[in-house]
Amino acid sequence: MLTLSRLRCELQTEPLGLGETSPRLSWELSEGTQTAYQIQTNNGWDTGRVESGQSVAVVYTGPALESRQRVEWTVTVWTEGGEASATSQWEMGLLVSGDWQGEWIENGLVGGRKSFIPSPYFRQEFRLDGPIASARLYVTALGLYEAHLNGQRVGDEELSPGWTDYKQRVRYATHDVTDLLSTGDNCLGAILGSGWYVGHVSWNDRQYYGDAPKLLAQLEVTLLDGSRVVVGTDESWQTGFGVVLQEDMQMGEAVDARREPKGWDRPGFTGWHASALRAPRYTGSLDAPASPPIRAVKTVVPVEKTKVSDGRYLWNLGQNLVGRIRLKATGKEGKTVTMRVAERLEDGKIYTANYRAARSTDYFTLADGENDLTTRFTFHGFQYVELSGVDENATIEAYVLSSDLEPVGTFACDEPLLNQLWQNIEWGWRGNSLDVPTDCPQRDERLGWTGDAQVFIRTSLFLADAQTFWEKYQQDLADSQNEKGDIPPVAPNPDVLSFEGGPAWADAVVICPWTVYRCTGDPRILERHADSMARWVDSLVQSSKDHIRCYQGFEGWRGFGDWLSTNAETPNEVIGTAFYSHVARLVAKAFRAIGRDGSAYDELADVVKAAFVKEFGDQLRTQTANVLALHFDLLPAEQRPLALMELVADIEERGDHLSTGFVGTPYLPHVLTEGGYLDVAYRLLMQTSWPSYLYPVTQGATTIWERWDGWTEEKGFQDIGMNSFNHYAYGAIGDWMTSVVAGIDLDPDVPGYKKSLLRPRPGGGLMQVSASLKTGYGRLASAWQIDGDRFSWTVEVPANTTASAILPSGAAHDLGPGSHSFEEGWIA
Ligand code: BGC
Repeated sequence: MLTLSRLRCELQTEPLGLGETSPRLSWELSEGTQTAYQIQTNNGWDTGRVESGQSVAVVYTGPALESRQRVEWTVTVWTEGGEASATSQWEMGLLVSGDWQGEWIENGLVGGRKSFIPSPYFRQEFRLDGPIASARLYVTALGLYEAHLNGQRVGDEELSPGWTDYKQRVRYATHDVTDLLSTGDNCLGAILGSGWYVGHVSWNDRQYYGDAPKLLAQLEVTLLDGSRVVVGTDESWQTGFGVVLQEDMQMGEAVDARREPKGWDRPGFTGWHASALRAPRYTGSLDAPASPPIRAVKTVVPVEKTKVSDGRYLWNLGQNLVGRIRLKATGKEGKTVTMRVAERLEDGKIYTANYRAARSTDYFTLADGENDLTTRFTFHGFQYVELSGVDENATIEAYVLSSDLEPVGTFACDEPLLNQLWQNIEWGWRGNSLDVPTDCPQRDERLGWTGDAQVFIRTSLFLADAQTFWEKYQQDLADSQNEKGDIPPVAPNPDVLSFEGGPAWADAVVICPWTVYRCTGDPRILERHADSMARWVDSLVQSSKDHIRCYQGFEGWRGFGDWLSTNAETPNEVIGTAFYSHVARLVAKAFRAIGRDGSAYDELADVVKAAFVKEFGDQLRTQTANVLALHFDLLPAEQRPLALMELVADIEERGDHLSTGFVGTPYLPHVLTEGGYLDVAYRLLMQTSWPSYLYPVTQGATTIWERWDGWTEEKGFQDIGMNSFNHYAYGAIGDWMTSVVAGIDLDPDVPGYKKSLLRPRPGGGLMQVSASLKTGYGRLASAWQIDGDRFSWTVEVPANTTASAILPSGAAHDLGPGSHSFEEGWIA
């Protein structure tokens, strides 16, 4: 029987506090193929029966939505044989600045660019004279906040409100706090931290955006009798200090358990007499969040504990992760425990050199008796924890922090090293998706590097329901674009480097939205950002000479090259020009996808392609140069086989090793596969000696490393100046593992898995592979197995979609929704 599920608005289930005034609605069918739908809302929108199979991202076009409005929507769906309806709802947030009665407040204590201040606390008591019908708390900070109501923490968001370009926007959260209030006296409070706004971002000093954290809150209560009470931040709030003596995301936090201002977040507390100060007017916009907040998504318990010396213990969590520690220790009042962390050990001791200036040290000063402590406003990237000043009964566990994105993809096979690689890819993403897609989570950097983002985005969209995460990042990119159209190397852009990002970095502004569109079928990101994408490509027309980008002698930034490649220099002008043609082509496609004329960009792509062939066509040489030329379709047909041969020869000369860096690596296995060298691609995948995907795995890696040789048996640790053990970029191989090894791919013409391409290409000695993806339509899965001379394969195609299934022999089938099994002969 047909049923509908997973009704979502803006990709969230029954969201509260929506800022989008043209929200997108989606639903899933249990079976069959949708022939028509109808949506009706309680505010008078009725689409009528629409003859359409669209069940993803149907845009609301009803009456204008207002602040706080609650909309109930019912969708009815017809298939060939069935009909079903389901109902869901959403609630709007505060849409205009006039909705805010609360004012920005601060504590008055300001640190310096090198110094810290204790975390300010704020509180306000208020009365509710009657039973409560409903209540919403709208809250945000410039800095970080933890909101409290009547002795309880509000919500479970971490590091809120996340990172945006605060000069332009900050996001507020909406919480349903009805159950936290009571008739009579109540108390609303918040603790503030430095976060990105005040604390270290990148390798610069503190206070890039502002000098002290600020709070904005507005509690709106509706009583049963219909009356409304609004409690907003203002100068009548009290302010004081508590357990957090100093904190910084990179440096760590000092918590003094003795200083808990008991009862500060409940009515009746009389400990503080200072009043909050009104903060300067905030001129950016207050936005509702459109992507999931950071949360503690997992708890990890140590696998090993060793005594280093008296009072000093070392724990191994068994996993390099991002988050913070919860410490339980019996204390002698006033004793301070020092916590240091590391990603790796050296001679049995914690190795912290690669953190550079990020001190990543926490201090816990104990109160008498049992202490159960954690930090609030810092996070570290680590696997090992060393505590000094504890007795042997102290225990720890780690809270893993990450943007709370629903995991959607799986991969498993009969080769344990590949399964570990897959897990490392997952952990690399988990640790580097903290509101912003970061390069690394541990050293004094943690930036939204554009290059890394575009390299990994496709894989990330298989791992997690990350559409809104990337839509938010696209806004960060747009916010960082200058008048000339330049895109910086990082977004948000705290001016760490003044130049534009260069090839493969700045080009993220085109590659990311195009990838989101391809993987979701939802054109919104293109509609919203097509102009920004085009402005970037237009700027390349200006900065190139005879269509050669980053030509020798170019006075701007010539780019990072094929970052971290191995003994292979690909000239910047080759990378630059290849990407120039590629992004021009993508803009043309993006324009077409949203009904605009893209022909001018197609012509530009062709002209640049011709310039590329003329200048570099016969001297590509490096693996990356050949890969780009082939993957971006820059070569005349007769030159392609040569480029392929040169590529394969180079790989073989290096003993089946790749030499590619960030730029060439993601495309390399695809180029080999398309070019008929599947076996070579598999040899690269299965290679265990350095440089390779599996070398770090053989060395116990539990995340993806920044460098192929972050640590080697011969040389030990790489350059401390840049050696992260949690960098997702090379995890881009995940895309090849799922699309080629397991065979779950996008149809070349139909985006978003409305039609998928199922085409496993076994190899590498693998006997059993399975993968699945929770698409916008439901579960898409592929599982194959080789038994002697038989290849058997089972696939699952979600309702309301189709698939082309291609067996290793080339036999093809058109499939509809449901499970299908195939078998054929197999010759090893
Ligand atoms: C980052 C990279 C980034 C690169 C640019 C590094 O410091 O960690 O991942 O893309 O700089 O060259």
